[in-house]
Amino acid sequence: MIVEVARDATGRVGILAGDITEYSGDGIVNAANSGLLGGGGVDGAIHRAAGEALSDACRALRAGLLRDGLPPGKAVATGAGRLQVRRVIHTVGPVWRGGTHGEPELLASCYRESLALARDEGLESLAIPAVSTGVYGYPADAALAVALRECRAFAAANRLPARIDLVFFTLAEARSAAAVLAAS
Ligand code: APR
Repeated sequence: MIVEVARDATGRVGILAGDITEYSGDGIVNAANSGLLGGGGVDGAIHRAAGEALSDACRALRAGLLRDGLPPGKAVATGAGRLQVRRVIHTVGPVWRGGTHGEPELLASCYRESLALARDEGLESLAIPAVSTGVYGYPADAALAVALRECRAFAAANRLPARIDLVFFTLAEARSAAAVLAAS
């Protein structure tokens, strides 16, 4: 289940609640780790829903272009296997270490790099989970501020993706994010 909870005045940035693997737009972002071979959280959910084709695509990247893994703050696109979307954009968020080790800059880079890839691949719509706010421990409110700032700035400067949807796993988290969106 995935539902829209809010959109900003421009209509370009939205807040959704639910399971990102059920998104029916053009692309979704995966909160991956540098190894790119799956894990828990949203990474695990996306790999389970996409099937072996996604793992195969990630293994191919690790055997070639990304022999040393995907660095934090960077993003790479693959096919989407059995998911409804066309592309999965994998990004590696920073592990929270108190906020004075470049975490905000790396998280901002995750959003910018993922959005730029979506634009370059001609994706009309992109769903992005709350990168780094789970296992990686980034405080949700600080992460949301980075996400909204970067998504709004990108939307103001780029036509694609036309719809940028921030997806929160629970309705409570989405409602809280919607309140911040409305107030900013
Ligand atoms: N749909 C949408 N959001 C989800 C889903 C889902 N199916 N599953 C989890 N989330 C949310 C979490 O509630 C959290 O708010 O995604 C956010 C990111 O949490 P994580 O998935 O733990 O990602 P992150 O904090 O970036 O840690 C990445 O965790 O899963 C491993 O392999 C991954 O090592 C990497 C690390």
